[in-house]
Amino acid sequence: MFKKDLLKGKRILVTGGGTGLGREMASHYAEHGADLYICGRRENVLKDTADQLIGEYGVNVKYEPLDIRASADVDSYIERIFEEGPLDGLVNNAAGNFISPTKDLSHKGFDAIANIVFHGTFYITHSVGKRWIEANHKGSIVSILTTWVWTGSPYVVPSAMSKSGINAMTQSLAAEWGKYGIKVNAIAPGPFPTKGAWERLNPGAGDDSSMGNIPLGRVGEMNELQNLATFLMADGCDYLTGQTIAIDGAQYLTGGGTFSNLDKLSDEDWDQMRAMIRSSNNKDKADRA
Ligand code: HXC
Repeated sequence: MFKKDLLKGKRILVTGGGTGLGREMASHYAEHGADLYICGRRENVLKDTADQLIGEYGVNVKYEPLDIRASADVDSYIERIFEEGPLDGLVNNAAGNFISPTKDLSHKGFDAIANIVFHGTFYITHSVGKRWIEANHKGSIVSILTTWVWTGSPYVVPSAMSKSGINAMTQSLAAEWGKYGIKVNAIAPGPFPTKGAWERLNPGAGDDSSMGNIPLGRVGEMNELQNLATFLMADGCDYLTGQTIAIDGAQYLTGGGTFSNLDKLSDEDWDQMRAMIRSSNNKDKADRA
């Protein structure tokens, strides 16, 4: 879809870049020539990813263990990166989530998620953005959200609340930082199965049955998400900012509609429905005559 050197010369930080969607996006950026920084809580998975990307694509990849909940650690990490040279891109991918009835959540359980997604994402964004502004360097921010930012979602309330906050951050900073050449967008992926997310959001299901109704009849293919993440990071669409783009096979639009369950009807069911509606119309007409 893209020229192989599309991102050559760009330096991109992917939080949570050692596993899951973060690793997939980092890999696509590396494939297109970018140098990378990846951070996360587990050094072993970061090292594994860095080694693989360096070996496969010959780009520079630096990794460092970091818990984005620790604001002072975040700022000193970003400071050290900028001492080597300014970043060009930031992907806010690190997240935490699990399904639970909200009544059963402890406050610590809520905080565990909100501190990563809501607070941590702000800490990173703020640390990077203020350095871009100070250095008069343009940049691109892409945050990984979910379609719950528009619909809310039962059983993942701390995540839905926190990601909605980052959606507001995306819109707000696009307006506030546009004058500095910083574009701020987000991606709202539907189901793109990864080990970490599936273990916490679809435990024991073994298939995609609890993923609701998806008009395209399938979960997302990783390459589709990678292409969007790369498009948003590349030069050539600077006017696109402040947007959260859903990539979900129209799942959330269908799930949210009053008549979305009609998808299950067969042609025979529809024939019956049509006959019932017509007979009701005819009865009305007869009454009026
Ligand atoms: C109820 C739970 C729980 C569960 C943890 N807690 N898991 N409560 N049900 N399943 C509670 C604990 O009991 C504790 O509260 C508090 O949360 C903190 O737990 P810790 O394990 O100490 O937290 P921590 O080690 O900081 O781990 C954070 C985490 C964990 C969020 C809980 O899941 C994590 O590290 N996740 C990172 C990876 C991840 O989640 N990936 C999926 C992202 S998917 P008490 O009161 O008992 O002490 C995503 C969207 C996907 O974001 C969209 C798909 C469509």
